[in-house]
Amino acid sequence: MTTQNTDLIRTDLTPLIATQLEANISDLISGKFSNEIGELLEQRGVVAFRELNLTDEQQLAFTQTLNTTDIQDYKVTKITMDPLENPNADYIKGAFYWHIDGTMLDIPVFASVMSSRRLSETGGRTEFSNTYAAYDALPEDEKAALEGLQVVHMFETSQLYVNPEPSIETLKMWQSFQPNVLPLVWTHRSGRKSLVLGSTASHIEGMSLREGRALLTKLRDWATQPEFVYSHEWKLGDLVIWDNTGTMHRATPYPLDSGRLMYRTQIAGDEPFM
Ligand code: SIN
Repeated sequence: MTTQNTDLIRTDLTPLIATQLEANISDLISGKFSNEIGELLEQRGVVAFRELNLTDEQQLAFTQTLNTTDIQDYKVTKITMDPLENPNADYIKGAFYWHIDGTMLDIPVFASVMSSRRLSETGGRTEFSNTYAAYDALPEDEKAALEGLQVVHMFETSQLYVNPEPSIETLKMWQSFQPNVLPLVWTHRSGRKSLVLGSTASHIEGMSLREGRALLTKLRDWATQPEFVYSHEWKLGDLVIWDNTGTMHRATPYPLDSGRLMYRTQIAGDEPFM
């Protein structure tokens, strides 16, 4: 579907997730469309602009226009596996697995804004799963069975995907992050519900380890079926924004020495996992 609202052209990219927008940079930075973009993010999970080619300053200014909280904490983070550009490149490898940012916190960021500055010749898409739509599509009896379940999230669980045989020093460092217990079903202020899954999810309180892991895996399979997923194949200068509170995301594999470089800014959240 393409709709044209004077200066904002909107095309839905799949039925359940992701909308492409076209607008000029000065309108975006003026905040003219910030309400509309905020609403679209919540409804569609992902908003993409093709080949916008914002400068760092423009990306920061645009990010600020989307903030609805009092938190003013803006910076550009380089997302790359290149250790010369990013000393924490090893942690970034966790990006290859489905995750929600901020599951070790009580209040996650609302949204991330990411632009492509250098591409990998192969791989390196970013994929998004709409966790509102995945919850909505569950059969009613399964929704009822999930109600009230609490999931234990641990930083070490996500790191074990990348480094399955850590030294004891490394494991202890990971364990310096305390586990966080979050609801499996997040009831948002709007009344909508989404699934809280991802690579930090370790087990479910009150269930055996195996039963809990089987349920978390089944739900991840469910939420990452093609109808709930948008896969963004990057062109240079694209800018993609995702609602981190209603989606999971991951990068598809790409060579670690490809030079792929993304610049990410974030929009603070003010809604705790409930
Ligand atoms: C991320 O997980 O925040 C980054 C995803 C990507 O590099 O495509």
